[in-house]
Amino acid sequence: MPTFADFDRRNYPMVDAATGYDGWAPTYDRTVMDEMDSALLERLRRPEWARMRRAADLGCGTGRTGGWLRAQGVSHIDGVDVSAGMLELARARGAHTTLAQADVRETGLAGGAYDLVIASLIDEHLPDLTPFYTEARRLAAPGAHCVMVSYHPQFMMVTGMPTHYTPESGVPVAISTHLHLIGEHVSAALAAGWVLTEMAEALVDDAWLVRKPKWAELRGHPFTVAFVWSLPG
Ligand SMILES: C[S@@+](CC[C@H](N)C(=O)[O-])C[C@H]1O[C@@H](n2cnc3c(N)ncnc32)[C@H](O)[C@@H]1O
Repeated sequence: MPTFADFDRRNYPMVDAATGYDGWAPTYDRTVMDEMDSALLERLRRPEWARMRRAADLGCGTGRTGGWLRAQGVSHIDGVDVSAGMLELARARGAHTTLAQADVRETGLAGGAYDLVIASLIDEHLPDLTPFYTEARRLAAPGAHCVMVSYHPQFMMVTGMPTHYTPESGVPVAISTHLHLIGEHVSAALAAGWVLTEMAEALVDDAWLVRKPKWAELRGHPFTVAFVWSLPG
C-alpha cells in the first residue's frame, strides 16, 4: 500500500496532530477555505440536517463544522478534539453543547446515542481508518449517518502536499499526514457495519482559482471528498 511519504514533495518537518494544531489554532480559521468542506456538505442530499437531534463532531477543531451544523438546525452537538488550542477557540465560538479533549478513536462519548457522527478534514491524521469507523459505529443510534469529509487522496498524490501551516517563523510545518485511498475508506467502514449511501467530490474550479490562482494547472482535480455512511433504522 502506498504511503504519503512516497509522494511527499515538500519534506517539511512533521509534527503530531496535537502539537501541530495547537500551533495552527490562532490562524486556522483565516487559512481554511469553506470550499473544502462546508460547500461540499451543502451539496449532500442526506442526511436531513434539521432532523438530526444529536450529533458527535469528531475532530471538532475551532468549531467551524459545529457552527455549520447549528446553522442547519442541529441543536445538540458534542465535540471532541486532541488539541487544547483548537478546543479553546471552539469554546469561544459556542456552537457545541459539550466539548472534550479526546481522541476520535476513543471519544469517551455515550454509545448508541447519536443520529449523526461527523468528521471533517481529520482522517489524514490517522494512520489506520478502522479504529475511527469502529468508534463512529459505537456512537451511532439505529438509522444514524456518519459523514466524513476527507482531503482527497488523488490531490495528495498529484501535489505531494501534506496538511501544513506556516507559523510566525516562516518555516512551514507539516502535521502528520497519512494517505488513505477511497477503497480503504470503503473497506474499513463496511467492516465496521456502515453502508455507503452518498459520495461527492469538490473539484478545483473557477471559485477555487479565484482564491488560489497558482493552482491553475490543477483545474478539474478533486480536492476533497465527502462520504455519507448510514445504518438501517
Ligand atoms: C483540519 S482540522 C478540522 C477541524 C474542523 N472539523 C473543521 O472542519 O474546521 C483537524 C482537527 O482534527 C483534530 N485531530 C486530528 N487528529 C485527531 C485525533 N486522533 N483525535 C481527535 N482530534 C484529532 C485536530 O486537532 C484538528 O483540530
